[in-house]
Amino acid sequence: MQGIKFVSNIAIVAALALSSQLLAETAPESGKTKGDAAKGQQIATQVCAACHNADGNSSIPANPSLAGQHAEYITKQLNDFKPKEGKPAERENAIMSAMVAPLSPEDMKNLAAYYSRQTPKPGEASDKTLAEQGEKIYRGGNLEKGVPACASCHSPNGVGIPPNYPRIAGQHSDYLVAQLRAFRTEERTRDPNNVMHMIASRMSEREIQAVSQFISGLR
Ligand code: HEC
Ligand code: HEC
Repeated sequence: MQGIKFVSNIAIVAALALSSQLLAETAPESGKTKGDAAKGQQIATQVCAACHNADGNSSIPANPSLAGQHAEYITKQLNDFKPKEGKPAERENAIMSAMVAPLSPEDMKNLAAYYSRQTPKPGEASDKTLAEQGEKIYRGGNLEKGVPACASCHSPNGVGIPPNYPRIAGQHSDYLVAQLRAFRTEERTRDPNNVMHMIASRMSEREIQAVSQFISGLR
């Protein structure tokens, strides 16, 4: 019984990944959704560079790198940090919620256009043994616990699949661990179908550390 339940969950996850990929591939190029990277750069230099660096390759482990991230994903996250209609933000973070407060929807698109065009710097795993264990989860998941392979949505080389599945390759492992914990506790909720909550809540702390090590060095 348990086995059947887990296998069917994996099938659902695979189907979700596939349908989004098809949508992304057939989506028409829309001029309206493209921001102005030059305008975005102005805000990025004045406000965001202190924590995410001028080119979006952050040097502080708690602050995510934004360089090369998909524009749609960046816009969505900036929106998610904003509390709406008296409700708490879908992604709770005191620093970023203060940062997005003065941004207009236009500013968000411009920032997303800027960061998505920056070149991401490759990272390196600091613990190779842990990273090797993490690679197994990344590529194959954990069938017994119903954890799907991360590669199925974030792609084998970690560049993700726009618009919904973010690039994670080379991201700081401290940041990755923090996000997986936040998905587990649902501090971070606005994830379509709550799929990352389902995945993270089936992972042990050790698995979270291992897969994050692997991803931080993935290129
Ligand atoms: C004082 C430091 C600080 C400043 C300044 C700052 N950020 Fe952040 N940013 C963070 C931290 C810390 C996080 C991680 C939040 C979390 O853990 O959820 C983050 C997360 C993000 C994310 C989510 C990335 C992802 O992979 O999901 C985006 C997008 C982002 N910041 C954009 C910006 C933009 C645009 C600005 C300027 C308007 C900015 N940040 C200014 C610290 C900062
Ligand atoms: C079914 C598709 C799917 C699978 C499989 C999947 N993810 Fe995700 N992941 C997502 C989506 C969708 C998001 C974006 C959530 C949001 O918009 O807030 C995401 C976001 C993330 C983030 C946050 C990135 C950031 O920049 O903040 C991390 C970290 C992550 N996933 C790690 C993993 C790991 C590790 C695995 C494997 C154990 C995995 N994911 C498997 C769909 C998936």
